[in-house]
Amino acid sequence: MTFSTMPAFNSRIEQALAARKQQGLSRTLQVLQGSNKVRFEQNGRQFVNFSSNDYLGLAADPELVKAWQVGLDKYGCGSGASPLVTGFNYAHQALEQELCQWLGYERAVLFGSGFSANQALLFTLLNKDDVVIQDKLNHASLLEAGLLSAATMKRFRHNDIKHLNQLLNADSAAKLVVTEGVFSMDGDQAPLAQIQHSIEGKAWLTVDDAHGIGILGRKGAGSCDAAGIKADILVATFGKAFGLSGAAILCNASVGDYLTQFARHHVYSTAMPPSQAHALTHAAQMIQSQQWRRDKLVELSDTYDAMLKDLPGYMATDTTIKPFVLGSAARTLDVAEQMKQSGCWMTAIRPPTVPQGSARLRITLTASHQVAHVQHMAESLLRCLEEQT
Ligand SMILES: Cc1ncc(COP(=O)(O)O)c(C=O)c1O
Repeated sequence: MTFSTMPAFNSRIEQALAARKQQGLSRTLQVLQGSNKVRFEQNGRQFVNFSSNDYLGLAADPELVKAWQVGLDKYGCGSGASPLVTGFNYAHQALEQELCQWLGYERAVLFGSGFSANQALLFTLLNKDDVVIQDKLNHASLLEAGLLSAATMKRFRHNDIKHLNQLLNADSAAKLVVTEGVFSMDGDQAPLAQIQHSIEGKAWLTVDDAHGIGILGRKGAGSCDAAGIKADILVATFGKAFGLSGAAILCNASVGDYLTQFARHHVYSTAMPPSQAHALTHAAQMIQSQQWRRDKLVELSDTYDAMLKDLPGYMATDTTIKPFVLGSAARTLDVAEQMKQSGCWMTAIRPPTVPQGSARLRITLTASHQVAHVQHMAESLLRCLEEQT
């Protein structure tokens, strides 16, 4: 048998790769030794990591490592099955309960990743007559799920309440409004209190708080707590402040039951290892009780702001994400490379992840940094930009 269409895949793939390369937008996997630590090594050179999402410094924390080891001793390795078959252990139940108690919801439904939680939520909740209204800068997992869902997707201009109101009032369809709490590329916050006020009685609100949970609010309860609101549905991801991976959708009991029945990424996917669920429960407790980690972030953020605020490209944020906008992809790559010469590792974020002309260094602060790390980074960046002018 011959497959005459096969060469089409080859030429398509080669064309796409060549185009990426020509635009200077190719991405490369970097092998790093100690990649989840504040200092790591590549080819014998040492770097301070300013690009991780490990905001509270838990990913390599000995206390959390120990918790996972205890979980392994207690529960073994894998979960052995999807949750509705035999994969749901006491460790998963304890994690769900911890999250519900901390974040104030009746139910928590666990997923292997934030990406799958977002897809599961939108695919399961939305029908063809519904409208999903998303902030234009929402994460790819949300925008893609909205487009692929049965519903009509509309997007409102970033954080623009007036535009959101127009879309809310356009028709009488059932509506779901979806926003991030903290936006991953700009580090700014959604005006959640205003959004909730606008949608009252007109829509349900989903907040993906991947970058706010653990950082903002009382005991790190996140963006909604900080804004004094409760979202109908809250997505918490475990790959950032929790220092691990996975995610939970927090909701009321009936949405929880509904997702448990119908969310395919939950029903047809192997449950996370129970040892990981055990470690996640411990991480949730560390986040709530170790306020010093959030205090440290404030100190580091103040240092960063004081040193760089007068520079073109600086963007003020009240979060751990400090974008430094340099414009072209080529310039951003060049500065990122020069920062590496100073021992500072920061990722150049380029289109299509951010709009054309707004390529940037995505600098992140974590509780594992020292003030001296931030001072050295800011001095190096100042020097590097001065040399360019
Ligand atoms: C806002 C947001 N939601 C969801 C995700 C996906 O989460 P995960 O990495 O757990 O798949 C990310 C990841 O970067 C994110 O930034």
